[in-house]
Amino acid sequence: MIKRQLLTLLFACTFAGGLFAQQPWFKDRDLTLTGVYYYPEHWEDSQWERDLKQIRDLGFEFVHFAEFAWAQLEPEEGKYDFAWLDRAVALAAKYDLKVIMCTSTATPPVWLSRKYPEILVRNEQGIALDHGARQHASFASPLYRELAYKMIEKLAEHYGSDPRIIGWQLDNEPAVQFDYNPKAELGYRDFLRKKYNNDIQALNAAWGTSFWSEVYSSFDEITLPKPAQMFMNHHQILDYRRFAAAQTNEFLDAQCLLIKKYAKNQWVTTNYIPNYEEGHIGGSPTFDFQCYTRYMVYGDNEGIGRRGYRVGNPLRIALANDFFRPIQGTYGVMELQPGQVNWGTINPQPLPGAVRLWLWSVFAGGSDFICTYRYRQPLFGTEQYHYGIVGTDGVTVTPGGHEYAQFMREIKSLRGQVGEREAKPADYTARRTAILFNHENSWSIERQKQNATWNTMGHIEKYYRTLKSFGAPVDFITEAKDFTDYRVMIVPAYQLADKALVDRWIAYVKQGGNLVVTCRTAQKDRYGRLPEAPFGSMIDPLTGNEMEFYDLLLPEDKGVVEMDGKRYAWNTWGEILKPGKGVQVWATYDEEFYAGKPAITSRRLGRGTVTYVGVDSADGSLEREVLKKLYAELEIPVMDLPYGVTMEYRNGMGIVLNYSDRPYRFELPKGAKKLIGEEAIPTAGVLVFSIAE
Ligand code: GAL
Repeated sequence: MIKRQLLTLLFACTFAGGLFAQQPWFKDRDLTLTGVYYYPEHWEDSQWERDLKQIRDLGFEFVHFAEFAWAQLEPEEGKYDFAWLDRAVALAAKYDLKVIMCTSTATPPVWLSRKYPEILVRNEQGIALDHGARQHASFASPLYRELAYKMIEKLAEHYGSDPRIIGWQLDNEPAVQFDYNPKAELGYRDFLRKKYNNDIQALNAAWGTSFWSEVYSSFDEITLPKPAQMFMNHHQILDYRRFAAAQTNEFLDAQCLLIKKYAKNQWVTTNYIPNYEEGHIGGSPTFDFQCYTRYMVYGDNEGIGRRGYRVGNPLRIALANDFFRPIQGTYGVMELQPGQVNWGTINPQPLPGAVRLWLWSVFAGGSDFICTYRYRQPLFGTEQYHYGIVGTDGVTVTPGGHEYAQFMREIKSLRGQVGEREAKPADYTARRTAILFNHENSWSIERQKQNATWNTMGHIEKYYRTLKSFGAPVDFITEAKDFTDYRVMIVPAYQLADKALVDRWIAYVKQGGNLVVTCRTAQKDRYGRLPEAPFGSMIDPLTGNEMEFYDLLLPEDKGVVEMDGKRYAWNTWGEILKPGKGVQVWATYDEEFYAGKPAITSRRLGRGTVTYVGVDSADGSLEREVLKKLYAELEIPVMDLPYGVTMEYRNGMGIVLNYSDRPYRFELPKGAKKLIGEEAIPTAGVLVFSIAE
């Protein structure tokens, strides 16, 4: 057994402990709570008690109710019926199950769509979505919002002080709506009026409307940008995407505040799909923390080896963890598949062990709860083929259900014998790295890629994958954070910037930070315009370079960059650099009319360093070598895990996950003790160890 005090002393963490105030909602000693979606409205109420009892017996600690039940909660306008839900909550409590309550705004009842058809989302052709599916109501419609808020307030009044309810999930996977409802157009104009202080000339300047006669004389002339027009003004699109993301955020914030009027001891969040580029994740400041949903096996073969499609992409959960956790210091996972899904291109069985592997992957990143989608396989409706914890008879536990039960037994066996959340070894926290992220960069770059094979998220993932092979804890952060919390920060393809941000980067480095800046950074202002200065020169004071030009190559005829005697292929983007005094050249181009000229440079600035990587390699191997070289210079100890194996620490435990197609032998650190699994970790296997006695 590990002694908590000793651990804290030995492994007191320099950074992470100080970054976030301890959240009040979850107890460290619980490690994680695990729960499941149950839809009472789908089943005979005579079965509820049997089901909830079995949910408890399997080891679950909470259930998730009422996500799509608006029609049952408000069967007629203004007439509410919570009696059925009260019965379900009481039965859950009888079996020691806490409840997550939902606001069901993703599924308005038919009376609402028929009586008020103006609330329906419209596509670009003006076609209104209709009742019979879900997510067809327009967040831009003030009327829809009003009706939704009325229902939510009733629900919050009813359950807000109920100690059986632990928290709330708003809506379902709320997305940024690209909605052509006329109210969205009005909303967009209002957004622009506010942004440009009612000054249409300011908007004309920001959007460069002197180009192609696009000039506006009034905000009322502005319409939503139409995807059908491929040459649509991209400054306008940038502002449209900002508006659309803000609209979703405002809708969620308003729901959250309504609930908080009544719910003083319950948390509020939502369940985002980790579409990092949509830009609304973390944008509702009223939330208590952020949650994501994640599906791993659905036909896309992003796994390793012949059976990889049954295990999934090794970094899919890790990246979501590292993106969501830094926003508010903790996160939960609201949906994780327990078996086959119904909506993939191919819906295979997960490899035996994979469901448990995903659960441990979520846990490893520092989460506080995990909820699986869903308890019973539905007998009707759109998701008939979706596996549950139990099968179509409502009682037989599925293979994934058994893996959940195993995970929950394992977690419970660890409670009381492990350390505090931030008890992590010093060599692990020493390699903690930030990746600075702003979705607007990819909005901007993806509209003007210049090379069809460029992929903004793919570029970022080359660095991320390397960091995970180092066994490094990674935080995706925004400009709202204090950079000085991180010894190393990577700023990948950060296209939209301004002098104030460049000055912050310079100050960070001068104070001892180590910045890795990559190609395409700070080449435009925040409106997406090129500054009237030499191309790319906004960061010259930081990198110490000038840029001669950039080049783009055919994917079938890649170029070569040489670093430390090794050659690396590239084609999507290569900047030809002109280093100034005191700048070291790390890599040069090996071909074309610029052979011998620099592609990567590094320099000291104040107490820190700036590494500038002007090229995007074809397979990420160059990015890996750059980071290896830098971490070696900084004397930061790194691991060398093969792709498919990841390792994290929390609560004084190391957790090693094997997504690869072969067993991996992990050498336990000195003094470590095995808690779960073996050093020879099979495919889809997990090893958990305590870090010291
Ligand atoms: C999610 C969604 C759930 C359910 C699930 C099925 O994307 O949030 O409501 O539809 O997919 O896998």
